[in-house]
Amino acid sequence: MATSVQHDLEELRTRALADLADAVDAPAGEIWEKTYLGPKGELTLFLRGLGALPADERPTAGRAGNALKRELEAAWDSRHRILAAADLDQHLAADAVDVTLPGRPPTIGAAHPVSQMIDELSEIFALLGFQTVFGPEVETAHYNFDLLNIPADHPARDVWDTIHVDLPGEIVMRTHTSPMQARVMEQTEPPVRVVVPGRVYRYEAQDASHEWMFHQLEGLAVDRTITMADLKGVLAELARQLFGPNRRIRFRCDFFPFVEPGVDFAVDCAICGGKGCRVCKQTGWLEMGGAGMVHPKVLAGVGYDPAVYTGFAFGLGIERMTMMRTGVDDVRAFAGNDLRFLRQFAGFA
Ligand code: DAH
Repeated sequence: MATSVQHDLEELRTRALADLADAVDAPAGEIWEKTYLGPKGELTLFLRGLGALPADERPTAGRAGNALKRELEAAWDSRHRILAAADLDQHLAADAVDVTLPGRPPTIGAAHPVSQMIDELSEIFALLGFQTVFGPEVETAHYNFDLLNIPADHPARDVWDTIHVDLPGEIVMRTHTSPMQARVMEQTEPPVRVVVPGRVYRYEAQDASHEWMFHQLEGLAVDRTITMADLKGVLAELARQLFGPNRRIRFRCDFFPFVEPGVDFAVDCAICGGKGCRVCKQTGWLEMGGAGMVHPKVLAGVGYDPAVYTGFAFGLGIERMTMMRTGVDDVRAFAGNDLRFLRQFAGFA
């Protein structure tokens, strides 16, 4: 082989290996490969040009060229591996997620304290055999009053500070959950055991214990042998479930047109044990609501035979119970929509 060819190849080898050592990343490596080994690379062109050499020089030059090709390919192969691995590492490092960074916690909502109270009441009454049902908040006077033995023009109607809806017929925002007594009985054969939680509306001046919208829980049980003892047993159990064992309940005579006899009932204050404190306003008793034996006229009005069936009913103020449980002393806080207030009662019940 002519020394010039040998010299050229040696020079090409030295340059190629030096360049390869200088190729520090994957893109530089690609350029190197193209420059030396690609279809138009220097070595490829050299091998292609062998035909132009004198015949006696071709075999040696060819062997030397092919040997260099294998050497450069092997060198490229190992260099390429290193560069590709480095390239992958770099991408991984650039895309890395720092798992030690504290996350941004999503804001998790919580049930409103009154909703929590409703859920708890539903559970307590479910264990006592009562089904929870819901009724309309916009009601006819027929259900809100007439079927509850509160006839039109009767003074008792004024007790409920009714908000009227401007629609034909006498349509009202229900003033209590009691209309659901009639609705349920109309649709069910006795025996009946339901509780009805929900919003009620009254046209009242607001103060710490009055709101124009609040929640009640109605209860109704009708069967063949229901007595006042059943009412007392159910309400005593409710008091224990809500306010702890050894609670006593108090019935005092009261008047509601849809029950006879009617009572208001209270639980002895669990905070002071009945001695008198801020929560029970020094009376020793917490007023829970009204109750009584379903009036025969109400039973007859929905087609139940009062000679066969008797029943008890009660209506509880849900905000009031929530206040007793939480110590909140202003009912307006519940619908005031202040998150700082509401957050304190996430998961209280
Ligand atoms: N509905 C009555 C009110 O809102 C409360 C009430 C009293 C409900 C006696 C009853 C009951 O079921 O028997 O003032």
